Amino acid sequence: MTFTQQDSIKLLEIMKARRDVRGNRFIDKKVEEEKLSFILEAALSAPSVGYSQPWKFVIIEDAATKNAILQNFDYENTKAKEIFKERELYNKLKLEGIKEAPLNIAVLYEPKEEDVLGMTSMQQMGEYSVVCAVQNMWLMARSLNIGIGWVSILNEKKVLQELQAKENTKLIAYLCVGYVDQFYKESELKILGWDREKKLHECVQYLKG
Ligand SMILES: Cc1cc2nc3c(=O)[nH]c(=O)nc-3n(C[C@H](O)[C@H](O)[C@H](O)COP(=O)(O)O)c2cc1C
Repeated sequence: MTFTQQDSIKLLEIMKARRDVRGNRFIDKKVEEEKLSFILEAALSAPSVGYSQPWKFVIIEDAATKNAILQNFDYENTKAKEIFKERELYNKLKLEGIKEAPLNIAVLYEPKEEDVLGMTSMQQMGEYSVVCAVQNMWLMARSLNIGIGWVSILNEKKVLQELQAKENTKLIAYLCVGYVDQFYKESELKILGWDREKKLHECVQYLKG
């Protein structure tokens, strides 16, 4: 399949329009089954080290699990507030949308028991593969006008217990998923002045021959 320049422009447009969405933007509208299928299909299309596909997706809609995860977040965020006590802005940030989003998806890493091609030197490649799946989900969701927010201020062990995950499983991402009233044009943390945007020249190094 050959794509056109227009396809590339559209892809970049979707990438640039992707946002991390928090609870202040989710609306009360169910994510349709077929849209969720698209998002999960995008996840399963991700590359993975040695074609290991070491991912698992737990779809969470029930209030009890969401409540437990929110409690976990509140506890961890209290500690984070202390760490960032010099920065007043931290207290004002909404950093999750666990209850507001109709759907939560926990993305887990389930390591293979046998050796994995490509992972013999760098063990962390399995986890990186799952991150690739997360990014695919984020972009596909945006193309469907569905927002995703990544919540990482969580005690991983407690989340895994709550989800009754298998032994050796790791939590890669806890995602809040749903329709939104708007997508910000730029990162909310940039808009609020938490940090500035890095320019291309700061991120690229050339080793010229
Ligand atoms: C690995 C990872 C973890 C993140 N964890 C959180 C989080 O716990 N809470 C939150 O509000 N945003 C979280 N974010 C979202 C980032 O703050 C966001 O991606 C960044 O500010 C850039 O904004 P944008 O995604 O809207 O472009 C996370 C993003 C990544 C990639």
